[in-house]
Amino acid sequence: MERKDSFTIIDNRTGKSYEIPLVSGHLPAPELRQIKVDPEEYGTMAYAPGFMNVASCKSAITYIDGDRGILWYRGYPIEELAENCTFLEVAYLLIHGELPTQDQLQQWEQSILDNYDVPEDIKNLIGTFRHDAHPMGMLISAVAALSTFYPEAKRVRDPENRMVQIRRLIAKVPTIAAYAYRRAMSLPYVYPDASLNYTENFMHMLWKPPHRAYKPHPVLARALDVLFILHADHEQNCSTHTMRSVGSSEADPYVAVAAAAAALSGPLHGGANEAVLRMLKEIGSKENVPAYIKKVKEGHGRLMGFGHRVYKNYDPRARIIKRMADQVFEVTGRNPLLDIALELERIALEDEYFVTRKLYPNVDFYSGIIYQAMGFDPSWFTVLFAIPRTVGWLAQWNEQMADPEQKIARPRQIYTGYQKRSFVPMDQRVAQAATA
Ligand code: ACO
Repeated sequence: MERKDSFTIIDNRTGKSYEIPLVSGHLPAPELRQIKVDPEEYGTMAYAPGFMNVASCKSAITYIDGDRGILWYRGYPIEELAENCTFLEVAYLLIHGELPTQDQLQQWEQSILDNYDVPEDIKNLIGTFRHDAHPMGMLISAVAALSTFYPEAKRVRDPENRMVQIRRLIAKVPTIAAYAYRRAMSLPYVYPDASLNYTENFMHMLWKPPHRAYKPHPVLARALDVLFILHADHEQNCSTHTMRSVGSSEADPYVAVAAAAAALSGPLHGGANEAVLRMLKEIGSKENVPAYIKKVKEGHGRLMGFGHRVYKNYDPRARIIKRMADQVFEVTGRNPLLDIALELERIALEDEYFVTRKLYPNVDFYSGIIYQAMGFDPSWFTVLFAIPRTVGWLAQWNEQMADPEQKIARPRQIYTGYQKRSFVPMDQRVAQAATA
């Protein structure tokens, strides 16, 4: 049979046949509209809650093979990047598409550290939050507020202007996060130190005691750098999709990053590492693990940090983090929750329920245990995810802005409501149960 790059679809309602040419080997959904019974009707749509199996863009940034547990940034395996690169080197790769030369890296680092400071009014804004405000609420609000300081950021079709905003956001998000942290601790703010690298400067802004010098521990600084590398991008996940969706209306990147961070904050996405820690605390000891797993299998809650929409194999990032945990614990002392986590993983990976559903530990299963050992309260874990993911969001947004095929995000719906009905005056209405 002659090979053709098309599908033939036969509509069994009408017996009609349609030949639909493929785009890069995939079915272009708009073509489905021509399939209809009545010429007056709208035509066929693809229905995919949660965008299951729907590609919303073409992208050259991140590749995941969920069945084989593979993750590449710009073609480079995540394991090699985590082993050999700094976070800012990987950020350059994600944004620019190639690994930097020594000169390019130096210029890039300088352009980021030149932008560490945030306007004083942003610092003041952070000071207005309640001391117990959730850190993600503070981060999202302050990043959105940056939009008001850089009105030129609205020129999103200008590539050079985009790069200015990209550098600013990568540099300023950790400063905002650190100020929010100091606010929550009722500690004076520590201004950024441009003589330190990205991760060390972040640790300095978080933990420098008043009136004393502070030197980040090199093992912990490197561990944080690697965690940042692992979280930098993950193709079209919920928050990245939000970034692209908001970006598609040509909103500026500050409000778009704030929206993406809001999407990240939910417990089914970036909020999962916080939920993992709460779960491990609730389990309390190794002995209670089997009873907890039984409860999950009976439908009471989920095993947080397990399962992934794309990975149906061990998440490669979880493997790297698990190995790194030992180096961190040599400095900080062992986090007793690790034993519960290891036992949970051991039992779950042998249990038919988890095996048949291909539920493996994801990136969030071990990261929280390390962050806690470093001294972070679980409510800060999602902020630690948002800092590096800002790079991925911006790389994806930059790619989207340059992509002539992209359009404003506007899905359709399958309407399930009433057909047209007559208005009921107030004195004739009868109370009805709410329908939604
Ligand atoms: N614990 C127990 N059962 C689970 C879990 C879990 N963590 N995850 C999925 N399942 C079960 C579901 O109950 C379902 O079982 P069923 O077929 O008997 O109904 C089956 O596995 C498939 O689950 P879905 O919800 O359809 O899978 P989906 O791809 O929609 O969800 C998700 C992926 C949201 C990550 C899910 O696995 C989950 O809730 N995990 C816990 C939260 C978590 O760790 N999120 C972090 C993800 S990584 C990240 O965002 C950085």
